[in-house]
Amino acid sequence: MTASSIAPARPHWSSRLMFVFAASGSAVGLGNIWKFPYIVGENGGGAFVLLYLACLIGLGAPLLIGEVFVGRKGGEFPASAFLRVAREKAMSRLWGGLGALGAIIALMILAFYSVVSGWVGIYTVDFAQAVLGGDAARSGADAFSAMLADPTLQLSAVTAIVVTAGLVIYYDVTGGIQSVMRYVAPLFVVLLVAMLVMVAATTGKLGEAFTYMFQPDFSALSVDAFGEALGHAFFTLSVGMCGMLIYGAYLDDEANIPRLGISVALLDTAIAIAAALIIFPIVFAFNLESNGGPGLLFIALPQGFTLLPNGDLFGLGFFTATLLAAFSSLIALMIIARHWLEETLNVSGSSATLMAAGATWIGGAAVTLSMTVWDSISILGLSLFDFLDQATSSWLLPISGLGMAIFVSRAIVPDMPEGPVKIYLRAGLTYIAPLGIVVLIWSKAVGF
Ligand code: PHE
Repeated sequence: MTASSIAPARPHWSSRLMFVFAASGSAVGLGNIWKFPYIVGENGGGAFVLLYLACLIGLGAPLLIGEVFVGRKGGEFPASAFLRVAREKAMSRLWGGLGALGAIIALMILAFYSVVSGWVGIYTVDFAQAVLGGDAARSGADAFSAMLADPTLQLSAVTAIVVTAGLVIYYDVTGGIQSVMRYVAPLFVVLLVAMLVMVAATTGKLGEAFTYMFQPDFSALSVDAFGEALGHAFFTLSVGMCGMLIYGAYLDDEANIPRLGISVALLDTAIAIAAALIIFPIVFAFNLESNGGPGLLFIALPQGFTLLPNGDLFGLGFFTATLLAAFSSLIALMIIARHWLEETLNVSGSSATLMAAGATWIGGAAVTLSMTVWDSISILGLSLFDFLDQATSSWLLPISGLGMAIFVSRAIVPDMPEGPVKIYLRAGLTYIAPLGIVVLIWSKAVGF
């Protein structure tokens, strides 16, 4: 045990770069590639991007840094980490509840994340078959609906992806992630950059996409857009769910957490923007719907790929990159569930991994069935999929984010050395985050 750590000894990342790989692997996921482009499309482009960047800088990045600090200080078990730090600071034991809340949110997200990851897997295999000279790849609304109506296909995809993720984390969290991310991270970046260059060259629409993304039209914004930008800033950086706390626990005591945290936030943002700059030129080149919602990635984009020369290859490259991103985020989400189950049920790491994988599979199966066999069931007028997505992004994440902001601003920030980092974190966590989140929750509950 060292001076700044009050938790028992634990494994460490082999290098700080590994932390950046692992934390970016958690952050960069379906949120960047699937969700960000379609919510930009639904909210009219540039003004929303600005709002989102403001939420990232004002609240998201400070919370990410704060979570990593709690993890390094309190250890890798979410509830115990908050409890330990709270005890040291003579704060209430109730703060331990933030760990449980984070894990419950992660389990809810896992239920639909595993399903969408499965879709990505299905499209990847399809494009691979098309490249190898098999049938044409899935494309268009009908093919997407046909996949949604096929529970067996979706369940097989969910099973494959959950079992593989479970195997990676079965024995040793840091070891498993490190050996996977060592290959996944560089491969992902190479694929993404290659796609960006090739799409820009073949469609000639990069400039148009740029204007769409960065020229704000504030008339397209609504209060709902603020909620969406804020919720997504949390979701994309994996904050409010203790994911960053766990990865922070494996950092050495000398690591410069603010610098590492900012690197992860910058990488995550750059990749979301790159994904949008791959998707929108295709959308514009073929006059596809830019506001197509969740179907953008699975309906509009494959349609565009079929119209491009060597489109199957583009499709394969793009969906492989998306699958890698989804997979490393799924691992991160399952690790949250695993650690929390391990500490709460007092079971071994491997039993907890099995339970986390089992819970993910059951959640994924329920979401799949709710779209097919049980499609008459709704919760508060929403499908199970939409309920889980909206309940986590619009409500639970802002609430846990608010709790974490208050906790970190009282338990961690006062001990930091004076300087710009402390000023930044204090501004974000003590003022901007609580104010922004309270306004958001108020607007949702009461309406404006
Ligand atoms: N940040 C991931 C994404 O954008 C989702 C995620 C949330 C992953 C929480 C891990 C923990 O897709």
